[in-house]
Amino acid sequence: MFKKVAGTKDILPDEVYVWQKIEEISRAIFTTYNYQEIRPPIIEEAALFDRSLGEFSEVVQKQMFLIKNADEVYALRPEGTASIVRAYIENNLDKTTGFMKLYYLGPMFRLERPQKGRLRQFHHVGVEAIGSAGPDIDVEVVVLADALLKAYSIENYEIRINSLGCANDKAVLVKILKEGLKPKLSSLCEDCNARFKHNVLRILDCKHEGCRKVVGGLNISDSHLCDDCQGHFDKVRKGLDSLKVAYKVLPHLVRGLDYYTRTVFEINHPGLGSQDALGAGGRYDNLVSQLGGPQLGAIGFAFGVERLLLAMAAKENSAGAGPSIYLIPLGEQAVPFAVETLAFLRSHHCAADMNYEGRSLKGAMRTATNLSCRFVGIIGDNEINKGVIALKRMDTGEQKEVKKEELLEEVKKNVKNS
Ligand code: HAM
Repeated sequence: MFKKVAGTKDILPDEVYVWQKIEEISRAIFTTYNYQEIRPPIIEEAALFDRSLGEFSEVVQKQMFLIKNADEVYALRPEGTASIVRAYIENNLDKTTGFMKLYYLGPMFRLERPQKGRLRQFHHVGVEAIGSAGPDIDVEVVVLADALLKAYSIENYEIRINSLGCANDKAVLVKILKEGLKPKLSSLCEDCNARFKHNVLRILDCKHEGCRKVVGGLNISDSHLCDDCQGHFDKVRKGLDSLKVAYKVLPHLVRGLDYYTRTVFEINHPGLGSQDALGAGGRYDNLVSQLGGPQLGAIGFAFGVERLLLAMAAKENSAGAGPSIYLIPLGEQAVPFAVETLAFLRSHHCAADMNYEGRSLKGAMRTATNLSCRFVGIIGDNEINKGVIALKRMDTGEQKEVKKEELLEEVKKNVKNS
């Protein structure tokens, strides 16, 4: 028997409801904030990610799903930002539209060791605002992330922000870190010893106990920031304060992807265990030009949908997702009446279904309960003779006989969108 690939998931019909809900809420909020959807392809040239995320980033070094075809190497996208910037430039959106606020939903692929909250195929819901370097859009993007979490009814998350500064400031930070860490290399893990050469910022978020201790002893502040970048960060914080968004400044916060500059942020949730980032993002002011476009400021973030679902913890019950009414014909002679009633209800846009399995009343009632139906309509010999349906409310158990036309009215009256 075939099995699914490790780190992938089948999203079965009883879970799809929550996914649709996340998508629906996200689209509604994105529309409120005037973000438009973009759907780039799932495969790209692998070199796009090498160039964008950084040759020495963990994702490029260890996690790319590569597809080789003759001389070409493609990758299943590990994230959306690089593809969207590529699409923005390739479609001349910088020339035709200029500033754009985009959103996306879809699968991403990383060849990681699967564990709770870490998959090889996972899903992002994210945004990219391309074409503005000012701090106001940083504020909007963080506020938008906060608004989405509130709309998903997720609580107890923490927004952590920091500023890496511009490319020059990042170089200063790298120098400060190298000087501070050089005498302590023997206390760092093997990975961090390798990072020391090419990717020293990553040492700051290594999960290894020994490395955390060393990093904790470093005196990292915002001293690497130039006046412009310090001013930008001050305005971002002021903007968030004025909109009463709760956040914490974390000087150790760096991100694993090379393209980030200035504002970076991460949103964490204590219920997620070791993979506790619900989402993350930041500015990438040099990426558009690095990929061949003009020098344009940009910022975005992405949530991991699987992690949102974990944080929503108590499994959303799917009440309201099933049909409004479930018809139960008792005996073969009741079936044509049930089929006709079903067609009548559906033709009036009433979500309805019936028991096709010839189950006993008890078994069919169980199905109706599992489907979270508001009503069942029972049709037995008695009902056929009288030309009625026994309509039972599932929540109160109340039952009454109604004619076909009254049935529609009764269901519509009690079920929104039925
Ligand atoms: P990222 O931090 O690599 O950022 O991913 C964003 C979120 O995706 C993470 O916080 C996490 O919730 C989720 N995630 C990442 N890897 C996995 C995985 N293997 N399994 C499950 N969930 C995962 C980015 O990808 C950037 N493109 C975000 C961004 C947009 N920055 C600017 N614009």
